[in-house]
Amino acid sequence: MSDIEVPKGLTNVIVDETGIATTDSTGNLLYRGYKVVDLVRKLGFEDVAYLIVYGKVPTEQERNSFFARIKENSMIDGSVEDVMRILKEKDVMRNIRSIVSLYPYTSEKSDDLLVEIAAKIPKIVSDSYRIAHNLPLVDDADGSFAERFYYLITGNRDPEKSKYLERLMIMYMEHEFNASTFALRVTASTLADPVAAVTSALATLKGPLHGGASAEILDFFLGFKSGEDAVKYIDDKIEKKEKIMGFGHRIYKDMDPRAQYIKEQLRQMAGDSSLFRIAVAIEERMWEKKKIPANLDFYAAIYMHLLGIDQDFYTPIFAASRVFGWIAHYNEQLQNNKIIRPSSKYVGPTGLSL
Ligand code: CMC
Repeated sequence: MSDIEVPKGLTNVIVDETGIATTDSTGNLLYRGYKVVDLVRKLGFEDVAYLIVYGKVPTEQERNSFFARIKENSMIDGSVEDVMRILKEKDVMRNIRSIVSLYPYTSEKSDDLLVEIAAKIPKIVSDSYRIAHNLPLVDDADGSFAERFYYLITGNRDPEKSKYLERLMIMYMEHEFNASTFALRVTASTLADPVAAVTSALATLKGPLHGGASAEILDFFLGFKSGEDAVKYIDDKIEKKEKIMGFGHRIYKDMDPRAQYIKEQLRQMAGDSSLFRIAVAIEERMWEKKKIPANLDFYAAIYMHLLGIDQDFYTPIFAASRVFGWIAHYNEQLQNNKIIRPSSKYVGPTGLSL
């Protein structure tokens, strides 16, 4: 068979089939066939996670036992805490990646293993951050996944803000063959174990062109006093041909539906505040000058700031949500596996001799 040359970055290349998520012809993101904007109105984080992992909306009994399984596995043991104390690493994504990579693997347990790991991520996030900053550890077994996670990262119990966090986490949960999921599928396709596959995904999510973008947005955003200030900054970046974090997407060229949903939620929270107006001014300027839409990370960063969440947690929150998509992709890859091994066009020298 002759080789096929595809565009750099695999732009618009369909590499395999998936039944987990897609974007329909009108720009809606679908999870297992349901519009995410409908799911988020009617279901909680645990229900949507179940839907993504198992392909069906859970019955009440299924939901309760899934939720119980997550709760049972949500703590970490003392040896993991010891590792965190040795690492004392301030970058939470590096902590999650390192700790998850050490997770013991036995092939008999592989079915439940990834759900167990997903259940532990909120506690890994909270403890590693607190240990690195010499803060006392906190825990609270009560409440939904989002309520507990909100408490673990802020130290406050707040059902309303937890609900807002839950909506964002549902938006982050799955997005077909994005870079981290693809990295996980490449690793899974070699028949490496599930811990190895999730470690690849975590490492890939960290980059600023992917999940790391949200952690960089406030660095410029919070410096603006007005929409005019912001527009000046955008114009200057465009002039210098520099990228603005939180804009652009491989799939969404006109509009990211997740960003628009979170923008509306932000409007509910922030009202007609200067913060909201500055965000809209930036979005409008980017569209006017470059025809590039805001992506989910742009509005998510401002939204998490209003929820009182420290910037160090932005990418980890993305990871704690997306891990459920990764579980589904790991399983899907193995159901019909073929090793992912493309070819390359050699452009180096030939015929050299010593
Ligand atoms: N700011 C300024 N210009 C941009 C931006 C941006 N954020 N994004 C794309 N462009 C320009 C880019 O320079 C290129 O221009 P030209 O054709 O003149 O060279 C054109 O738009 C096409 O961009 P591209 O980089 O070829 O698009 P891509 O599909 O390869 O990359 C992307 C998508 C998300 C990596 C890119 O838009 C980007 O780097 N955005 C900033 C980082 C970011 O916000 N990432 C989060 C993505 S959403 C959450 C997630 O799923 O991870």
